[in-house]
Amino acid sequence: MKTIIEPFRIKAVEPIRFTTMKERRSLIAAADWNAFRLHSDDVLIDLLTDSGTAAMSSEQWAAVMRGDESYAGSPSYRRFEDAVRHIASFSHVIPTHQGRAAEAILFSIVGGPGRVIPSNTHFDTTRGNIEATGATAVDLPVPEGLDPDDVSPFKGNIDVSRLDELLRTQGDAVPCVMVTVTNNAGGGQPVSLANLRAASEVAHAYGKPLIIDACRFAENAFFIREREAGQGDRAIVDIVRDMFDVADGMTMSAKKDTFANIGGWLAVNDDALAAQARNRLIMTEGFPTYGGMSGRDLDAIAQGIYEILDENYLRYRIRTNEYVVERLDGLGVPVVKPAGGHAVFVDARRWLGHLDPLEYPGQSVVCALYVLAGIRSCEIGTVMFGRQPDGSERPAAMDLVRLAMPRRVYTQSHADYIVEAFEELNQQVGSLPGMTIVEEPPAMRHFTARFAPMGEML
Ligand code: F0G
Repeated sequence: MKTIIEPFRIKAVEPIRFTTMKERRSLIAAADWNAFRLHSDDVLIDLLTDSGTAAMSSEQWAAVMRGDESYAGSPSYRRFEDAVRHIASFSHVIPTHQGRAAEAILFSIVGGPGRVIPSNTHFDTTRGNIEATGATAVDLPVPEGLDPDDVSPFKGNIDVSRLDELLRTQGDAVPCVMVTVTNNAGGGQPVSLANLRAASEVAHAYGKPLIIDACRFAENAFFIREREAGQGDRAIVDIVRDMFDVADGMTMSAKKDTFANIGGWLAVNDDALAAQARNRLIMTEGFPTYGGMSGRDLDAIAQGIYEILDENYLRYRIRTNEYVVERLDGLGVPVVKPAGGHAVFVDARRWLGHLDPLEYPGQSVVCALYVLAGIRSCEIGTVMFGRQPDGSERPAAMDLVRLAMPRRVYTQSHADYIVEAFEELNQQVGSLPGMTIVEEPPAMRHFTARFAPMGEML
């Protein structure tokens, strides 16, 4: 059969609250034209993030009941550790309350003033945690990763020759090399096994450990299976193990590719590093057999790890975004190609060519999508990255709008509704107004800034 179906039946449902365009116009105005300030029950389809928003399975809910809340030595921890070991054979598995907590612990140990930490592209919390220690975060994406129209299969790769150059010239300052799979900030694009192996060889040649930011490891493995020579017949779990086998550790947000609503972990081989991490963990997160989680979270994650390796799920997952990208491309809406694993990225700067980047075309699209169709998305552009440390303002590299797909939450008709919203918006795109910032905090302004449209919004 050619039709790719949702590989699940629905056992519990959550009603969506419908609103009118008129209501949404006043709701977004009351939220100061910042979608982060909306109440989520005023949103029809919420594509703000794929993080922590998954639908858990009946087996995960059963696992929640199995959770053991003992302070020390809980069997939930052992089930969690066994599940992590099923995909990655790192010696030490340290549970944290989410991915950024694992990053904070790691960089509190290996970061510090004068240190330099390269990656394909650091996610913003990773960069934030590195910079908070006084270290420098360096992004080394391959050039094709920066071109929305380039349809190369592995646009998430790290530029290995620039990595080599950095290690040759500044190696003493580098405590570890990171690779993010998939490359979220770079459009959800995958990293090939060949690239991971090459990055590992270069890092190890200079005596540096390779740490994988593994949030979307299963989506990355599915892309490897589909796109990399010689991988097409392999089981997802074997590809996943190969990815981790070349690394010395991982940071993980269980809110992504383990279908959990909270959680994460740090895993490493280095005994001394693990001992330091556990000491830090006890101070900031909790005892090493629960970290920042309850026993029931550990069990939900353990079950989620086995479920995410299902090829039928991954095929449906990846196909959803491909479908939306194909349809938007067909409408002439500029999108990042090929489709990313967890999200569709719309090139708002190109779509709203009548606006200057400093009129925040991405923010205008976010507001228009909400007013028109009740869809919540996220600007990844000049609002998020335009403000410089000295207070000045300059256009970000791109003005994108991210439509992040929660896992197992929406169906084909939701995807068709999203496409229809773009079809409608495409008719009126030339009249969408620019935005101004009325008030902003000194850092991370996209979460709380207040905006105003510079004209009528639809
Ligand atoms: N690394 C990557 C690649 C991420 O995408 C995220 C979170 C983190 C680390 C941090 O994990 O949220 O559990 O602390 N990304 C979310 C997003 C927030 O919307 O892309 P966390």
